[in-house]
Amino acid sequence: MAHNTAVRWKDWWLKLEAEFALPSWSCHGPEHWRSVERNAIVLSSLTPGADVEVARAFALFHDSQRLDDGWDDEHGPRAARFVETHRDEIPLNDAQVAVLVRACEEHTRGAPLDDPTIGVCWDADRLDFDRFRHNKPRPEYLSTEAARRIAREGGDIRARIRRMLLELNRSEAP
Ligand SMILES: [Fe+2]
Ligand SMILES: [Fe+2]
Repeated sequence: MAHNTAVRWKDWWLKLEAEFALPSWSCHGPEHWRSVERNAIVLSSLTPGADVEVARAFALFHDSQRLDDGWDDEHGPRAARFVETHRDEIPLNDAQVAVLVRACEEHTRGAPLDDPTIGVCWDADRLDFDRFRHNKPRPEYLSTEAARRIAREGGDIRARIRRMLLELNRSEAP
């Protein structure tokens, strides 16, 4: 990622964290977004064809427009409209934005699907969230083989993803 692009993403994180409508301890808030982002990076590295830039952007935007922690059914479409409204300020190309919009729009009701990027987006979210709804994420609701494998193993998924991310950064070091 070019330096300038990294700065723009950092600014986006600061902006959305500051503008988030719910309290900072919300289970749909920035701590969840960060966890989804770590999942997205790990799952992208294990899923051929997945676009890690789109998946990281999804982590940031997908729940950012929530207005309550309950069944806010419209928060996905709201996030999609937000991305479209701010399209010119988002450092992604048009094809990437189109995938991001769809991923945000349908993330609350999407069934497992074949698109590797959207599959990684939704699985990154579900790997973090299903720990509240069930004791562990259910593989039948996941789109990617990488996420299904992690879900089957169960345990402390947040901790395991952190370790996998560390391994990944090490192996990518020059
Ligand atoms: Fe959501
Ligand atoms: Fe989420």
